[in-house]
Amino acid sequence: MCGIYGFIGGGKVEELINGLKKLEYRGYDSAGIAFAKNGELFVEKHTGKVDQLREHLNSDLSKRINSGIAHTRWASHGIPNDLNAHPQMDCQHKIAVVHNGIIENYEQLKETLKAEGHVFVSQTDTEVVAHLVEKYFNGDLLDAVRKAILDLDGTYAIGVLHADVKDEIIFARRKSPLVVTADGKRSYCASDVTPLISSSRDVVFLEDGQLARLVAGEYEIFESSGKSVAKTIQHIEWDEKAAEKGGYKHFMIKEIHEEPRVISDAITGRISEKKVVLKELKGWDNYLKNVNKINVIACGTSYHAGLIFKYFFESLRPFNVEVEVSSEYRYRNVLIDEHTLTIAISQSGETADTLESVGLVKSRGGKVLAISNVVGSTLTRESEKTVYINAGPEISVASTKAYIGQLTVLYLLALYIDELFGGNHPDIVESLQKLPEIADNFIISSVEAIKEVASKYVGYENFMYIGRGINYPSALEGALKLKEISYTNAVGYQAGELKHGPIALLDEKFPVMAVAVNDQLYNKMMSNILETKARNAHVVAVLTEGDLNLKESINDAIFLPKLPSYLYPFLVGTAFQLFAYHVADARDLNIDMPRNLAKSVTIE
Ligand code: AGP
Repeated sequence: MCGIYGFIGGGKVEELINGLKKLEYRGYDSAGIAFAKNGELFVEKHTGKVDQLREHLNSDLSKRINSGIAHTRWASHGIPNDLNAHPQMDCQHKIAVVHNGIIENYEQLKETLKAEGHVFVSQTDTEVVAHLVEKYFNGDLLDAVRKAILDLDGTYAIGVLHADVKDEIIFARRKSPLVVTADGKRSYCASDVTPLISSSRDVVFLEDGQLARLVAGEYEIFESSGKSVAKTIQHIEWDEKAAEKGGYKHFMIKEIHEEPRVISDAITGRISEKKVVLKELKGWDNYLKNVNKINVIACGTSYHAGLIFKYFFESLRPFNVEVEVSSEYRYRNVLIDEHTLTIAISQSGETADTLESVGLVKSRGGKVLAISNVVGSTLTRESEKTVYINAGPEISVASTKAYIGQLTVLYLLALYIDELFGGNHPDIVESLQKLPEIADNFIISSVEAIKEVASKYVGYENFMYIGRGINYPSALEGALKLKEISYTNAVGYQAGELKHGPIALLDEKFPVMAVAVNDQLYNKMMSNILETKARNAHVVAVLTEGDLNLKESINDAIFLPKLPSYLYPFLVGTAFQLFAYHVADARDLNIDMPRNLAKSVTIE
């Protein structure tokens, strides 16, 4: 996730670098800074690490500056390179802008600005902000930024510095965090509290639509109307390590809490008039309209997301969708023709087996569409098209928010292809738009209850996860999460398969995690739960709120809100992640870096 840091009130260039160092944990691919001296703007930005940026700055590090802004970029629009790194500038090289988030309407704005004579040099959405501020600047920087943000759709946290405006820097936010503070001499703003708490622990979290004007040692907050608003100061008790994790104990739990935002970011700019718009697939409509088979290839958690795609797509129309783990697919003698679409899913975009499978597909003349989180990763370079999940870097090895982001994008993709075939599902599109809020409410209201349930199961050595239909892959993913971070044997099965063997495992020492939400397979799941109960297994059932039918037959319940059945995998996924997290946490394990696992599996 991108990081922003800035200060005003005097200091050295090196302090901008020090601020960025404290944001490094967020993950990034390039870094840059901007400051002004005697009406001239200095910008230094490069692909790579903050230490590389420090080397480029070399003798400038000790320079005295009045103010500066700095950024670590995690690419979303445009590959990671020096031009796309932030700060971005206007035509006159007077204005520097750093930005976190996604400007949804940047293409339209860019066209308009170009027609007005502005010249663009990068592929970023951010650059439009610099040109908009240039357009509106009339001596008052706050007013120019205020007018610029009124033109923006999407999400942003921005910082703006103008070479001709010595005494202030401006920040603004919508849906992407910014925190402001001052220590009497200087004032500061950053995308999280980590780089701020060494200066002051009394901070203001900007709210959506607000702007902050920072001057030496003071700052003011404004509404987008320009009206000044009172500050709500919060005192931060965290130390720097805890601050990196937003006050959470581990990145994993922080990332689970980011899932509602991830869903919303994945949807941003991809829905218009209750239809899915995937600009990334431009030029492919005719090809997609003639596709009669979809092959999905992926590993681990990404494979489970692929399985859910299959169930969801088939719920829209009968279709031939095959999902295969890449380490098997790559050795198969697969039939691929011009009517086959291959979807390769990989959070990292670097998974060796998936890349080999992509090679196989391409060698047989097939087309590959990548679903990835890492802009410019090998998979995205090897594939003809990519739809990014925009989840921001995932730091915990166990995939959580990236999985939810993959599901979101895969649902959009399924709807998009279905629309090309003549389908129309405004109800589903609308329900996806409501999902971030539903997911947020679910996490807030359930995290303690799930922790409580998990606390009862910390001592067990074996678990069986079962589900049916679209919730069967959720059982596989739930079991994988528990294995990965708590080193507990957990197996996932189609509930209907129990009687064909796995049921022999069950006894009072082998708990069952069963997904029995209110879908068309609910009655079948009830029977399966009763079967497991008859073998004395303890049952934790994931149910729809208000469902008391199984009260006497289960030991514990995790309740989900009532949803259209196709949305359950999102919340079941989150519920199982929370369960695994709390079991592992109760055992005091190294949750973010489990033994024997790597974030990017680049070996075969
Ligand atoms: C997820 O928790 C795992 N660490 C792992 O299964 C992962 O999903 C798999 O290695 C695939 O990674 P990718 O999405 O980066 O290709």
